[in-house]
Amino acid sequence: MSLLGHPRVHYRLTGSTNARARELAGAGAPHGTLVTADEQSEGRGRQGRTWSAAAGRALLCSVVIRDPPALLPLAAGVAVAEVVGEVVGAQGAGAGARLKWPNDVLVAGRKVAGILVEGRPQEGWAVVGIGLNVALRQEDFPPELRSSASGLGLDMSAVEPTLSALLERLERWVAADAGSLVDAVRALDALLGQPVRWAGGHGVGAGIDAGGRLLVETESGTVALDAGEVHLLAGA
Ligand code: BTN
Repeated sequence: MSLLGHPRVHYRLTGSTNARARELAGAGAPHGTLVTADEQSEGRGRQGRTWSAAAGRALLCSVVIRDPPALLPLAAGVAVAEVVGEVVGAQGAGAGARLKWPNDVLVAGRKVAGILVEGRPQEGWAVVGIGLNVALRQEDFPPELRSSASGLGLDMSAVEPTLSALLERLERWVAADAGSLVDAVRALDALLGQPVRWAGGHGVGAGIDAGGRLLVETESGTVALDAGEVHLLAGA
């Protein structure tokens, strides 16, 4: 059993599990505190975007992590990708679940999970928010996302077992040494050899360095992008 997930607060409907977990963390909630919801009315994505999912069809959770490791966003990505990989399996190189740096989880090129890590480093805590499209069907996505997002093809009853598996993986990767974690990210790297664009330039994904940064081969040489500072642009 995972140490993460205790205590747990579950909402049938809440604004955002991340917002709720942040409030709890700021009020002193212990490491591992878990907030889950069947549905969110103000789900938050990265870069100020919203995140929505049909009620009961997605795993919507936020976990309080005390003394978070520097590579927490990558640890969360690997944990989710491994759980997704167990569901979808892998047939051949590049198949199965892949990680689009820093932590979008893709299956067959489509996003099946998003991760939003927020925190107060000066207070020694972070919240890992995960939205995993366990039982979403293509018709559950808005038309503009149907070609780029997907569910796992599971039943709604799979949400809770998926949460248990995820908490175990997350605990393992949060505690892992940076070298093992970076190796795991490299093994899942969806951007290797692929076009990459960000506000400051463009190039081709060239791997992950020892600090978890994305390496990009550009016309003027190799650059290392830091997850905390650089956001990739869509349609690379
Ligand atoms: C992304 O933009 O890819 C990150 C999406 C993160 C969504 C999850 S759903 C559970 C948690 N609560 C939120 O409000 N956001 C995260």
